[in-house]
Amino acid sequence: MTRPRDTPKGSTGLEVRAAAARGLTPVLKDQGSLAGLDEHSVVARDRGLLKELCFGTCRHLPRLEALAGILLRQPFKKRDQDVQALLLLGIYQLLYMRIPAHAAVGETAGAARLLDKAWATRVLNGCLRRLQRESAALQAQVDRDPSVALSHPVWLLSALKEAWPEQWRALAEANNQPGPMTLRVNARHGHRETYLKALAEHGMEGRLCPHAPDAITLETPCDVATLPGFKAGRVSVQDEAAQLSAVLLGPVLAPRPGARVLDACSAPGGKTAHLLEQFDIALTALDSDSERLSRVEDTLERLGLHAELHHADASQRGEWSQSEFDAILLDAPCSGSGIIRRHPDIKRLRRPSDITRLAALQARLLDNLWPLLVEGGTLLYATCSVLPEENAEQVSAFLARTPDACITTPGDVAWGQPSGAGRQLFPRQDSHDGFFYARLEKRTATDTF
Ligand SMILES: C[S@@+](CC[C@H](N)C(=O)[O-])C[C@H]1O[C@@H](n2cnc3c(N)ncnc32)[C@H](O)[C@@H]1O
Repeated sequence: MTRPRDTPKGSTGLEVRAAAARGLTPVLKDQGSLAGLDEHSVVARDRGLLKELCFGTCRHLPRLEALAGILLRQPFKKRDQDVQALLLLGIYQLLYMRIPAHAAVGETAGAARLLDKAWATRVLNGCLRRLQRESAALQAQVDRDPSVALSHPVWLLSALKEAWPEQWRALAEANNQPGPMTLRVNARHGHRETYLKALAEHGMEGRLCPHAPDAITLETPCDVATLPGFKAGRVSVQDEAAQLSAVLLGPVLAPRPGARVLDACSAPGGKTAHLLEQFDIALTALDSDSERLSRVEDTLERLGLHAELHHADASQRGEWSQSEFDAILLDAPCSGSGIIRRHPDIKRLRRPSDITRLAALQARLLDNLWPLLVEGGTLLYATCSVLPEENAEQVSAFLARTPDACITTPGDVAWGQPSGAGRQLFPRQDSHDGFFYARLEKRTATDTF
């Protein structure tokens, strides 16, 4: 008889490490991301450890791979990338986790048997024991290369250096720290101060975020299901930087009940929901990915909100583009270089050619959406990127070819820094993610002449 997936028996240390190796292998083979991690392959109690093992290993992948390269006499074969994953997981535990070394080594090496690769146990044991003995010297050796020391691919570190000669190191270091868990309190259910008290009553500590008025950062991340009122829609998880889109659209939407708003790239629906929690608007939400769009539907259902949803490509006209909009949010598909700490597999999966491809798509989206904006209407361009090609340079090129667009990005705010026509936020430890915003207004005919 097959054992049910979520067995109450409890996973052993070996099983968690084998599950982590299986989760990491598609990333190493460039065949998948950590989004495909099957958390249900271990019991609920062990899911935190499984996630920490996989996300932590990905976060430090370039450095762990450099160490593995020294520890192994010859690299593992392509078909043995699951064993390579175990080695990287073992190194990660020894260098970055507070797991007793004997457990980290024994259970990681032993997990090879659960992958039907018992032959690898001895190799893994040998490599990890050598790392224990020669840790300082081996780390010093690999850290001579700055891209290894900072665990970033060479191309990305060069791009950060070129774009941000003063901030690149702090930026790369922030990418290597896990992001905090930030909540968005549903304004339709009350103030965040009241929710902070509810959290305290449940033994959860949080602090009010400085820039987004609905945001609370938790001192310790938790399972969303344990958040008071989560099911009833009282709260959602959303980074503080992401919550600034509603702040930026506030002056446009608050005075205009019934305004027609387009959220052109809406899934999984964080910003859609925030706009609907804040403003009485008629919102149309698109996404070209139907599976992701269904997550918008789920989110809106949980929160008791409504939008007109379309599975559509926002870079082309469609049924949804029959009428004009008073405001458009273009939260464009991007490299995700501002949220690497939350999606560390980006370091592995992104290529320089992706940036060129994404920048071209962002330009097409801007050009297709702009004519759908009423005169005097506002388009908010957003990305979770820190690369100028997708941000300031993108918007500056758009402004150059769009004479009726003018910049209304506020300058008098305490977040981010001016960057071309917009504002750039960098990921900050224990604070917000990296983001870019530019707010543009369509001039009326009288303004233009
Ligand atoms: C940055 S995410 C949006 C996040 C979302 N606004 C939120 O706050 O939850 C970008 C989204 O754009 C979608 N997308 C990519 N290309 C698109 C296109 N041509 N038309 C519409 N949506 C697109 C992706 O499927 C993805 O869901």
